[in-house]
Amino acid sequence: MSVADRIPGVSEYGSVDPAPPSVESNVEALRKSLLDEDVKMFERMRAVFSLRNNRSQDAVSALCEGFSASSALLRHELAYVLGQMQDKYAVPTLIEVLSNHEEHVMVRHEAAEALGAIGDRRARPVLERFLKDPLPEVSESCEVALDLLALCDEPNDVSW
Ligand SMILES: [Fe+2]
Repeated sequence: MSVADRIPGVSEYGSVDPAPPSVESNVEALRKSLLDEDVKMFERMRAVFSLRNNRSQDAVSALCEGFSASSALLRHELAYVLGQMQDKYAVPTLIEVLSNHEEHVMVRHEAAEALGAIGDRRARPVLERFLKDPLPEVSESCEVALDLLALCDEPNDVSW
């Protein structure tokens, strides 16, 4: 692999990710790496981005399972990529993550933003509930997500 190939490029989602996607494409193998607490963080991140690029329901399922990981950094990344994927299948898990007061604030913040990005109406009541969360990272993310949902509900050609 040339040096140019190793420099992080722009993903198919338009993001520059902290790790390139794993070259492994088998969802079950990627799931195993993601869930294995003994695998290096860099490799687990690579599995996350490869699962994101896979886009299948099994890949979304594996990413949702990843919230059992002990690393808040990794869980935060999972919420981020689920927002990028915009797959409604992840909505119940993201609602659970946002609603969990034991969860790290940045993970809850990212779950709220992901719910806004997915744009599923089922998220509205929970986002409204946490508008009053004592943590501003959570309440502000819910506000942004609700505004995004409202914008998507507007009739055509609204200019803000
Ligand atoms: Fe964030």
